[in-house]
Amino acid sequence: MRTPVFELHIRPMFRAIDKAHMEFAFDLRDYDDVVANADAILAQLQKDMPPPETGGPWPEEWVTLFRRWKDGARKRLDLGTATFALQRGTTSTTITATGTYPAAEVKGWLELESETDTSKTYVLYFEKPDTPAGSTPEAFTLEDSYPSTDTRSVFIHNSAGTQPLN
Ligand code: HEM
Repeated sequence: MRTPVFELHIRPMFRAIDKAHMEFAFDLRDYDDVVANADAILAQLQKDMPPPETGGPWPEEWVTLFRRWKDGARKRLDLGTATFALQRGTTSTTITATGTYPAAEVKGWLELESETDTSKTYVLYFEKPDTPAGSTPEAFTLEDSYPSTDTRSVFIHNSAGTQPLN
């Protein structure tokens, strides 16, 4: 069975209203905060959170998924390291990330993390295998393309922080 991963399967279950409501105590969209408060969060999910007046409760499968993540490896993604390039062509713009994975069987991808009217930010994620493999780490080239009519500036979020890519 697929190991649940915080950024892929847990964090998307928490809405903006959920985050806002718990902000006085901790951040429901932050890995370390959710780990530190995982037992209390599960207890509330099984009791009366989120309240019915604001879209709750969660379907049982979501609660089970949260519990499976909490009681398991509490897996998360890593921010990747790469060399980035932006190529603005006549029909499409391509973002390329090249490098070598930090260990064998690590998978990586670029994904749109957030956007505004004037900018878009891509994040580079690496996912480790559940069981470390002994073979040699592989080189990678990852790409994402979109129509060149989209002329917004591009930012990259990776292990070095968030920087403009020009
Ligand atoms: C971790 C411990 C938690 C505590 C102590 C807690 C406590 C509370 C309290 C006292 C209220 C206000 C009373 C009410 O409306 O029933 C509330 C509201 C709410 N809670 Fe929680 N809660 C917790 C976790 C969660 C979680 C995990 C979620 C979402 C997954 C959540 C979502 C909400 C929402 C959406 C509201 C309504 C906010 C609003 O009306 O603007 N809570 N919570």
